[in-house]
Amino acid sequence: MISDHVRTNTYRMAILRNSESIRGKVVLDVGAGTGVLSIFCAQAGAHKVYAVEACSIAEQAVEIVKQNNLEGKVEVVRGTVETVDLPEKVDVIVSEWMGYALLHESMLNSVLYARDKWLKPGGVILPSKAELYIAPICDPVAEDRLHFWYTVKDKYGIDMSCMYDFARKCVMNSDITVNTVTVEDVLSHPARFAEIDLYSVTAEELRSVKGQFRCESFGSAAVNAFCVYFTVTFPSPDKAPPLVLSTSPFKPETHWKQAVLYLGDAVEVVQDTPVTGEVCMYPSEESTRHICIHVDYTIGQEKRQSKNFSIPDWSAETQQ
Ligand SMILES: C[S@@+](CC[C@H](N)C(=O)[O-])C[C@H]1O[C@@H](n2cnc3c(N)ncnc32)[C@H](O)[C@@H]1O
Repeated sequence: MISDHVRTNTYRMAILRNSESIRGKVVLDVGAGTGVLSIFCAQAGAHKVYAVEACSIAEQAVEIVKQNNLEGKVEVVRGTVETVDLPEKVDVIVSEWMGYALLHESMLNSVLYARDKWLKPGGVILPSKAELYIAPICDPVAEDRLHFWYTVKDKYGIDMSCMYDFARKCVMNSDITVNTVTVEDVLSHPARFAEIDLYSVTAEELRSVKGQFRCESFGSAAVNAFCVYFTVTFPSPDKAPPLVLSTSPFKPETHWKQAVLYLGDAVEVVQDTPVTGEVCMYPSEESTRHICIHVDYTIGQEKRQSKNFSIPDWSAETQQ
């Protein structure tokens, strides 16, 4: 994650830009990992940074803090933010909590817990806002892979075209695929369907993050998926435009890439065909950190469709 330059550098710039809110103040880094954000805060002049980290990477964080001669300023606290005891309340909370599609395996609930327990009234949260976007896309690679079954007869003399429908069901399933969406495959301006204000959102509200969308296609194409991505915004102390960490396909790639939701059948659109609907993101019943996405959508004159998506359990796949 540190090698994700867009991610790490945006946090660095945001922390340095907010140095007026950080200088001489007490900071809590929720899920500090190697301590990189804690050290940025110390470099921005924090009086004290509590680097709270649940996992054993906390041991490396201690070493890194030492190596940078910041033992007096950055204190690594091993434990979950829900269980650790800090000696004081904090002026600033910083955290890199975002997961795939923003909320998959995200630790936002832990940040909210920390906010409610440890942030002083009027304190600052970095980042302070998250937004979710959706756009219809055409994934030509998926279509090419499916079309392959029509080419087998020419290649090997066996007609396997009956595999097409079966393969389509397998590929266009209800898994959320994390993939890089290329700009050419995006078929309309993305639509924002949800905004999360970190100062006010509650854990209860995160149980159903939803909103409506309306897109209009750029031109003739076949919609075979939606792409979902997010941005997070850092407050700006002065009149400078706020700093945005974006995972849009129109921006430089990050390790979050984009979440791709494949539809059953491709639907042809022409210029200005409306693509409308509603998205609801909610935690799965099996694990509160696993996200499900429900999309109701209408493309042009087609009848309303509904599809539920979830992220497959990759850990189970790798164990097999
Ligand atoms: C995405 S990493 C970010 C690490 C680091 N802040 C960075 O920007 O490179 C999130 C970290 O949060 C830790 N974490 C997750 N839940 C936590 C919790 N409830 N309390 C403390 N740490 C937690 C994980 O172990 C992981 O190291």
